[in-house]
Parts: sequence; structure tokens; C-alpha cells
Amino acid sequence: MLTVEQVAACGVVPVVVLEDAEQAVPTAKALLKGGITAMEITFRTAAAKASIARVAAEVPQMIVGAGTVVNVEQLHDAVEAGAKFIVSPGTDEDIIVEAAKLDVTMMPGVVTPSEIMVGLKHGIRVFKFFPAESFGGLKTIKALSGPFPQIKFIPTGGINQNNAADYFNNAKIQAVGGSWMVTKDMVASADFEGIAAKSKAATDLFKEIRG
Ligand code: 3PG
Repeated sequence: MLTVEQVAACGVVPVVVLEDAEQAVPTAKALLKGGITAMEITFRTAAAKASIARVAAEVPQMIVGAGTVVNVEQLHDAVEAGAKFIVSPGTDEDIIVEAAKLDVTMMPGVVTPSEIMVGLKHGIRVFKFFPAESFGGLKTIKALSGPFPQIKFIPTGGINQNNAADYFNNAKIQAVGGSWMVTKDMVASADFEGIAAKSKAATDLFKEIRG
């Protein structure tokens, strides 16, 4: 099983929505070109499972994971397709327990102390913080870090190139997530140069701040 640190090593985890599995490999290659080493393909479309399978088989340098996993069935589909990590927008104990059984890295989503306490009970130490900007962003992360000094966050939701530096400057941030470097429009128009350029800007910013 990969550690969250390995998954989040480049500091930016793109949240990718693919309508067509044909888009998966060129999107993964564009992200890689921009220095992004892990991507979350979301179960928001019917193409998710096939897309994960394509990246797992054809782009071995990319750590492919599944996002927006909201039930155990999707978790099974994701792992069967080759997902190396699982992200959920919320905290569901069934998903956390089953992911541990399947030996796959799991990041549940939280915004409250109670959700964090559920995750802690199951050994989770790095949480998705979603939707970050709507739930107080860094201010809330700093407040949550008081009672929970042992955890780190991957905030997503409303993060972009303009505010990512604020997050990178906080030691409780493992990485940030988001869709700004790989929007639906960019994928639909096959703007792979654009995806690579925005990815590079984001990973360069992380390196500049974190070294
Ligand atoms: C997620 O699931 O993490 C969000 O949809 C990403 O949010 P963003 O589109 O605001 O980056």
C-alpha cells in the first residue's frame, strides 16, 4: 500500500472529471508533463472505472486514484480497475474499513471535529478537507489543528493558482487538490498543452515554497 506522503509527493492532487475514457491517457500524460505524479479520477461520470483502468495499464509512472467514492461498490470498482488510492468527499466508516481490508490508501473528506474523530478511530492521519474555501479554508484548518495536532490535510474546493501559496505555507497541509489545472473544458477541447502548463505552474509553486 502506498503512503499518503507518496501519493501527495508533488504537492498537488488534481481532481479529474472524464466523460470519455479515451481522454484518460492523454490527460494523465499532460499532468505528468507538468510534474504531477498522482491524479484522482472521480466517480462522477460513467467513464471513471474504464478511465482508471486505462491510466493504470498505459501510464505506469502516474499514481492513479479514484475520487468521489461515496459507497463500497465504487470502492470495489476502483480497486478492480487498478486505483492506488481512494478519496471520498465525506467520512463513511464502511468505506474506510473496506479500503483497509483491500490494502488501499484512503483519504476521507472532513470539515468537522466529529468526522475527524471517526477517521482517527480507524488510523487515518491525512484527511481531505472539502469544500475548503466554503468551510473557512486555512482559518478552519488552523482551528482544527489545535485539538488534532497529529493530522494533516489535503484541502480541495475553491483552491487555485492564486490562493494555493497560502495553503503551501502552512505545515498542516500535506498537499492541495482541485480541478483548476484540468478543467472539464480543457479536457473537452483536448487542451493538453494547457493542462501541462497549469500543472507545471502549480507543482513549481509547491517546490518553491516547500523546497
Ligand atoms: C473536489 O471534489 O475536490 C472538488 O470538486 C474540487 O473542487 P474545485 O473544482 O473547486 O477545485
